[in-house]
Amino acid sequence: RMLKRQMECRSDIQRLNAPLLAIYESLIPPKEEKTKQQQLLVLLEKLVWKEWPQAKLFLYGSCANDFGVSRSDIDICLALNEDINNKSEILLKLADILQSDNLQNVQALTRARVPIVKLMDPVTGISCDICINNVLAVVNTKLLRDYAQIDARLRQLAFIVKHWAKSRGVNETYRGTLSSYAYVLMCIHFLQQRRPAILPCLQGMEKTYNVTVDNIECAYFDQIEKLHNFGSSNKETVAQLVWGFFNYWAYGHDYANSVISVRTGSIISKQEKDWTRRIGNDRHLICIEDPFETSHDLGRVVDKFSIRVLREEFERAADIMQFDPNPCVKLFEPY
Ligand code: CTP
Ligand code: MG
Repeated sequence: RMLKRQMECRSDIQRLNAPLLAIYESLIPPKEEKTKQQQLLVLLEKLVWKEWPQAKLFLYGSCANDFGVSRSDIDICLALNEDINNKSEILLKLADILQSDNLQNVQALTRARVPIVKLMDPVTGISCDICINNVLAVVNTKLLRDYAQIDARLRQLAFIVKHWAKSRGVNETYRGTLSSYAYVLMCIHFLQQRRPAILPCLQGMEKTYNVTVDNIECAYFDQIEKLHNFGSSNKETVAQLVWGFFNYWAYGHDYANSVISVRTGSIISKQEKDWTRRIGNDRHLICIEDPFETSHDLGRVVDKFSIRVLREEFERAADIMQFDPNPCVKLFEPY
């Protein structure tokens, strides 16, 4: 079925390439945004150093991994050298320090899954979330950024998929759909699977970068400049890849048995991970292995209702790309 659809589609889908690239271009943040982010980071550092002179602030998430669209909120990690047994206390103190300056809407969310302080800087207009000692997120941000440097098609595909997911309301973990981080991993995995491959499996290569965070070894090949031509024998365009991506998740993926794994650059079995049944709140209805925290399934937020929503959205997207007269509008129509 998949092959037949592929044959029918190949020539027709090509006409979507220019409009999809135009959408991608329109989402790219202008240079001034980076400058403003740096400006805010410098301000926050000054404030934080008054209380914790040894502290470091790191950007992570989409403002640092190259998958951020224009006007995204920014994610910051406050790295403290001390051992922390009470994160809430630190967050409340942090909120207090930031409150006293000109920042707006400062709020400590101490009960969230990842506890944070939220704020808005009226000077730059940027909103940000600050978490504490989440160094693993800083490291997986680097992994994503390194993948983004290898082949331009990853960033193009991921921007379009993220834009689609936000437009269609399926980028909301609190409602049982997937995080942006999960979607980017799905894109990386998809490009690792193309033949010829468009992306390598960096964790399967010589380890030129190696850190241990929270007892997890994070190691991979990060000499990206040596991989600039990696995907060049594959000539697929972004239109073909976007269509292939949705078609894979609509009709190709084996939800009952498969786990996608960027770490191994392959599909592994649910059996092997013991992700075959519901354990606690983890249902494993769509399985996406975290590249470093390998016991972590990024699909665990998905429940029996939201899996249906997700799969229907993948099917809708695949079908629109193939049959709709105006796919580039229809695909992103608000739900
Ligand atoms: N993260 C993580 N584990 C998760 C979700 C997120 O480690 N289950 C970390 C990742 O480092 C990710 C960052 O938190 O890059 C931000 O996550 P998310 O908001 O999903 O992604 P963004 O890239 O910031 O996307 P958006 O542009 O939608 O903000
Ligand atoms: Mg973010």
